[in-house]
Amino acid sequence: MILFNGRIVEDDQVAISPTDRGYNFGDGIYEVFRIYGGQLFEREAHMARLSRSAAAIRLRLPWTIDELDRQLRQLMEAQPVDNGTLYIQITRCAAPRNHAFPAQGEAVVVAFIRELPRPVAALENGIQAVTMEDIRWLRCDIKSLNLLPNVLAKQEALDRGAGEAIFHRGATVTECSSSNFMAVKDGIVYTHPATNLILHGVTRGVLLQLAAQQGIAVVERPFDLAFLAQADEAFLSGTTSEITPIVGIDGRPVGDGAPGPVTRRLQQAFERRVQACADGKPE
Ligand code: PDD
Repeated sequence: MILFNGRIVEDDQVAISPTDRGYNFGDGIYEVFRIYGGQLFEREAHMARLSRSAAAIRLRLPWTIDELDRQLRQLMEAQPVDNGTLYIQITRCAAPRNHAFPAQGEAVVVAFIRELPRPVAALENGIQAVTMEDIRWLRCDIKSLNLLPNVLAKQEALDRGAGEAIFHRGATVTECSSSNFMAVKDGIVYTHPATNLILHGVTRGVLLQLAAQQGIAVVERPFDLAFLAQADEAFLSGTTSEITPIVGIDGRPVGDGAPGPVTRRLQQAFERRVQACADGKPE
């Protein structure tokens, strides 16, 4: 089932114009929600970011956030899944190809649900990562459809036998190709501040709350590759990847090459949030 411009239809009933500006220019925005136990995780935070992304690219949403929210709930009822994702994308409109905004045209909304098991092996064992120059634009805070640098980086990471690419702009570590990045040194978590250079991850936001509850200090300050090389632990955060330990970077072990104690504590706290969501009792 697909939510297509306000209606829930079968997949083969969706027709996207070849002149859709999302298709031609990447002129649109998206969100990926997590579903745990049939419930949307951090629904409000994702909705708020969708709204911010729309405003940032001057895209007028065809419905209020409350109405969109209602439609997403209908989609969840039409296609219940236990663990999965809900993807929504909104493109500016279909119009004869011209870079400037067309005088008229309705935004095109598509949303669908897919089953996705939790990444249990990666959560338990951690993954390898490789560092790569961040060649993206200067509005990485907008969740836009323009993901080519991210796509190329993720593929290069996989080609090099790793699971994720850690971006750096010059020497400054920013985030990963599809997740936020954190390093731990002497029990303190370091992460790039939520500026225009990173996506303000919903999972990152949850993590900051959990760290505060756990009495784990977090410093939101840019740090460089030399600092990263000295890190005791590293991990990433994202809607689909949750809190994944990074146990090796560029072929060298992080700390002793196993998920560290601060990462584990945050993972355990995150697990409680996931269970609360699945039980229908979000904290
Ligand atoms: N990616 N940074 C980037 C570049 C991302 O693409 C993502 C999410 C994140 C983490 O944000 P959040 O915690 O809100 O998921 C950080 C999604 C899942 C994707 O594109 O599939």
